[in-house]
Amino acid sequence: KSIADLGDLRGKRVLVRSDLNVPLEGATITDDGRIRASVPTIKALSEAGARVVVCAHLGRPKGTPEDKYSLAPVATRLGELLGREVTFASDTVGESARSAVGAAQDGDVVLLENLRFNAGETAKSADERAEFAGQLAELADAFVSDGFGVVHREQASVFDVARLLPSAVGGLVETEVGVLRRLTTDPERPYAVVLGGAKVSDKLAVIDNLIQTADRLLIGGGMVFTFLKAQGHEVGRSLLESDQVDTVKGYLEQAQERGVEIVLPVDVVAATEFSADADHEVVGIDAIPADRMGLDIGPESSALFAEKLADCRTVFWNGPMGAFEMAPYAAGTAAIAQALVDITSDGALTVVGGGDSAAAVRQLGFTDDQFGHISTGGGASLEYLEGKDLPGITVLDES
Ligand code: 3PG
Repeated sequence: KSIADLGDLRGKRVLVRSDLNVPLEGATITDDGRIRASVPTIKALSEAGARVVVCAHLGRPKGTPEDKYSLAPVATRLGELLGREVTFASDTVGESARSAVGAAQDGDVVLLENLRFNAGETAKSADERAEFAGQLAELADAFVSDGFGVVHREQASVFDVARLLPSAVGGLVETEVGVLRRLTTDPERPYAVVLGGAKVSDKLAVIDNLIQTADRLLIGGGMVFTFLKAQGHEVGRSLLESDQVDTVKGYLEQAQERGVEIVLPVDVVAATEFSADADHEVVGIDAIPADRMGLDIGPESSALFAEKLADCRTVFWNGPMGAFEMAPYAAGTAAIAQALVDITSDGALTVVGGGDSAAAVRQLGFTDDQFGHISTGGGASLEYLEGKDLPGITVLDES
């Protein structure tokens, strides 16, 4: 069901689950991409005359309030982007929330305090979750699931509440799923996936799946050193998951059997420590000094990766190639972004998945419209590509 199926919303209280989990430095939002992406659905509901009750999480507080995880700065930014006042409730389902929702007029927007200040939101026990979901449901007449970044979480505001209210999928989730479906259903080929980020253990399931579906897998970031080790290279003090080396060897063999090309760096930027001021140099992957750590792919690798992407018609990218937040280690990530921008202008479908990668491309000066799609979901988009059921979506099919 989409929002139109909920009927006339004028005067109705509509609970919207958005993903407003943005990076903050103190009270300053350093990347408001997820708030921007959430605006169209909230705006459409407000313009339809609904009393819009937005709920979301920030960070991973453990079920009790913590100032640093307050959504107050997000309420201010959301108001600026919507061009109307957003009433911020200082709790999620308590007195403040009930009175803010009770006072809301048609078209008004209320943002509830961080869902994860309540233990019931992420509780393992279905009963505890259902109890919290019941309190959320009392604040509304209908529910719209629009937080794509959390649809892989079986949590009260994502999953349980959809069983208690007439529910619909929001426009952001519809768009995200529509784009990802193009990657999983007969993608135009060559289809390449670029994977980076720190840990290979977070990406095992998706690699397993991509070996069946993609034509090329380009790997960088901290996770690449486990691949390089599996190929017999010494990686110095670089990130290494020794317990995954055998698994990775298995992937390399499977990929070869299936004719999937795995592209690894040929050089890296090796530094004496994890710091922007550290002494660093470009070395070949067979010459990483024992006392250095690789913090980015090197220039020859950037050129190689760009060449491997140049003829692709579909590319999914998740995870930076290096410690891009420090200037000496940003070139590899920038090179991938540029390669994607180039093929996007030639009509290829390029999808950037994940909060970190999205923040990286914006921080490096690229804009969203230079890519086919920038997904708001990191874990969610990976789980979609793995072919897993996403609880926040299956529950809507059920209802
Ligand atoms: C994300 O940042 O990927 C989403 O907001 C989900 O957050 P979580 O991983 O803490 O559930």
